[in-house]
Amino acid sequence: MDYTNMSAYYDVIMTSGYYDYQGIVDGLVSHPNVSNVLEIGCGTGLILEEFAKRQPQVAITGVDLTQAMLDIAKPRLAGFPQVQLSQENVVVFDLKQQFDLTFSYGGVWYFVIDGDQEPFLVSHIPGDKHNEQGLAQLSLHVKSGGLLLLGIQGPHHDYERTISNGMVYSQKIHPAPNGFIKDYFLSDGDKTVMAQTVHYRTYDFAQSQQMLSAYGFDYQPQATSNPKFLTFKKR
Ligand SMILES: C[S@@+](CC[C@H](N)C(=O)[O-])C[C@H]1O[C@@H](n2cnc3c(N)ncnc32)[C@H](O)[C@@H]1O
Repeated sequence: MDYTNMSAYYDVIMTSGYYDYQGIVDGLVSHPNVSNVLEIGCGTGLILEEFAKRQPQVAITGVDLTQAMLDIAKPRLAGFPQVQLSQENVVVFDLKQQFDLTFSYGGVWYFVIDGDQEPFLVSHIPGDKHNEQGLAQLSLHVKSGGLLLLGIQGPHHDYERTISNGMVYSQKIHPAPNGFIKDYFLSDGDKTVMAQTVHYRTYDFAQSQQMLSAYGFDYQPQATSNPKFLTFKKR
C-alpha cells in the first residue's frame, strides 16, 4: 500500500508515541552474530536510524514501496555510510543478496496480539497471490539459519488525540471481508491536512504459520516478556 499521502506527517504522528522505536530496536539488537540486516517497509527510516547508531558495524538495507517515504529516510540516514536504501515492492523485489536478519515493523507484514488471543497476521498486500509472491521473494533474501522478525502490535481501535505539533490525529477501523480497512486523518483546527485509507488483509495464526513455513520460515516461540517481534528461522 502506497503511503504518499501520509509521508509528510508520518514522523510527527509516529514519534508522538504511536510506536516505541527504542523498544523496537532493543528487540532487534538482542540477536547476536548479525553482519547484515534488511528492513522491508522501512518508511522514513526511524528504526534504521536508531539501529545504525547502536550497531555501526552492521551493514543495513532498507526497502520501501513509497518513494515519498524514502525521500525522508534518505537525508535522515545520509550520515550512515553503512545504510543502503532502495525503492522496491516486496512482491517482486530481488536484491540478489541474502541477510542474517530481516524484519518488518508495521510495514508489509506484522502480527496483532489482542489480549490472550492467538496472534493474527496483518498484511499491507491485499491479494493472496501477491502475499504468496512476496513471501517467495522475501525467502530469497534470508540466509539459511537466518531470522525473519515480524513486528507485534496491539489491536487497532478507533481513537483521536492531539499530537506533539498540536494537530489532532484520528483513526477509524472498519471490518472488511478477510481483513479490515483503516482510515487515518490529521486535522489542524477545522482543516483536514491528511487523509489516508489502507486496506489490510489478515490471516489467522495457523494460516500464517502455514504460509510462512511453505517459504522456509519456521516459527520460533520466544520466552521474552513484552516482545516486539515474533521470530521465524529460515530453514
Ligand atoms: C506503517 S509504515 C512503517 C514504516 C517503518 N517500518 C516504521 O516503523 O516507521 C508502512 C510502510 O510499508 C510500506 N509498504 C507497504 N507495502 C509495501 C510493499 N508491498 N513493498 C514495500 N513496502 C511496502 C509503506 O510504503 C510504508 O512506508
